[in-house]
Amino acid sequence: MMADLDLAPVLPRTAATTSDDHLVLGGCDTTALAKEFGTPLYVFDEEELRGGIGEYRWAFTSRYENTLVVYASKAYLGRWIAALMAEEGLGMDVVSGGELAVAKSVNFPMGKVLFHGNNKSEQELREAVEAGVGRIVVDNFHELALLDGVAGAAGVKQRVLLRISPNVDPHTHAKTTTGILDTKFGFVLEADGSGGEGDPAEQAIVQAQASKNLELMGLHCHLGSPIFEMEPYEVANDVMIGFAAKMRDRHGFELHDYSPGGGFAAPYTRDQIPPAPDEYAEAVIGSMRIALEREGLDEPALSVEPGRSIAARAGVALYTVGARKEIPGVRTYVSVDGGMADNIRPAMYEARYEALLANRATDAAEENVTIAGKYCESGDVLIRDIDLPKLEPGDLLAVPASGAYCLSMASNYNHAPRPPIVLVREGNARLVRRRETYEDMMRNDVWQE
Ligand code: LLP
Repeated sequence: MMADLDLAPVLPRTAATTSDDHLVLGGCDTTALAKEFGTPLYVFDEEELRGGIGEYRWAFTSRYENTLVVYASKAYLGRWIAALMAEEGLGMDVVSGGELAVAKSVNFPMGKVLFHGNNKSEQELREAVEAGVGRIVVDNFHELALLDGVAGAAGVKQRVLLRISPNVDPHTHAKTTTGILDTKFGFVLEADGSGGEGDPAEQAIVQAQASKNLELMGLHCHLGSPIFEMEPYEVANDVMIGFAAKMRDRHGFELHDYSPGGGFAAPYTRDQIPPAPDEYAEAVIGSMRIALEREGLDEPALSVEPGRSIAARAGVALYTVGARKEIPGVRTYVSVDGGMADNIRPAMYEARYEALLANRATDAAEENVTIAGKYCESGDVLIRDIDLPKLEPGDLLAVPASGAYCLSMASNYNHAPRPPIVLVREGNARLVRRRETYEDMMRNDVWQE
């Protein structure tokens, strides 16, 4: 039985209820998981994860065989998910030596790794070159020179892409908009996107071609996220492929690889369901082909970088309900045992979430409340103004779509131990990350009495 048909689109596809109305994920009763592992607890549904990966892979490769779907690991990374991505044949986008170390630790195929970032350190570049990372996505002139030196010292000819900021507005939150003119990321094209002579993007092409230890393979851009519309991808492809053609004409540049980045939306709330992977694939590939044909360019290897759209729906956060504060005529606050230390997104981006009671999954809504976190600031609100059944202390609140950018952005604010993760599948629950302990948090505190 479905837990709550209204919330089905934001819950993992395995969501169901027991006969006593408990939320079931991956065949596991979530109230039993909470009892065994404590709360806050993050549950990842393996079937949902693999299903979502399969949809993206099929949507793109069935239309354009030479596509590599690359998981943007900043959305959420742990050794278990890196191993799962490798098993599914995906590539991986890393943005730090730390993410690269996780990939290396599970023997992730390094040829399928892309290394991004607007200020990679020399040490990080060295680690990437030595690990044999397939493509380093060079973001700026400082990095271009630094990497040429690092690759030379290692005796490697490093394959690179150039990150271009194509000046396209994806119409999303300002803090997650990356491909406009005023952004810290990438080489600037002319303000009108035309790639006029002498622009930084053109200079970067010339400099990369002249770098003895670099092999310029192609171009990359990323517009922002989440992007609900197709038009930004279509415009970006038009601009990027147009630029590639100009660079061919002026400098003999060859576009072997092309990436329009990630940013595909995920379902967070029942009233904002994102386009299907098929729609994104159709728009991205269709507009790319039109531009390639217009410019007389061969079809490059394509990579796309979904993070959120793969991880978000697979994760559900479980919290225990505690204190209540009623302010008559104003608002009722109900506090849970997690909050901004494990999910900063509402505070940072005004992100909206849904919630349901895991121990009374189909109870009807009775009151409008605001779900507050337990951390010491007023901004620590998980969900403002949501209709829910009457909440009692000890109730278990499930927050769907918590798989992306929650744990990867988690902190120890107020010295909160970061939550554990349980991977569920077909009735089996596997602890893949244990809850942090106070000792874990003090491990690096080397002060001695
Ligand atoms: N590729 C590049 C180069 C990126 O910078 C990003 C995300 C992605 C791919 C993946 O985007 P996705 O498919 O996950 O939307 N913390 C914010 C999101 C920051 C995204 C940063 N870059 C949030 O919680 O909404």
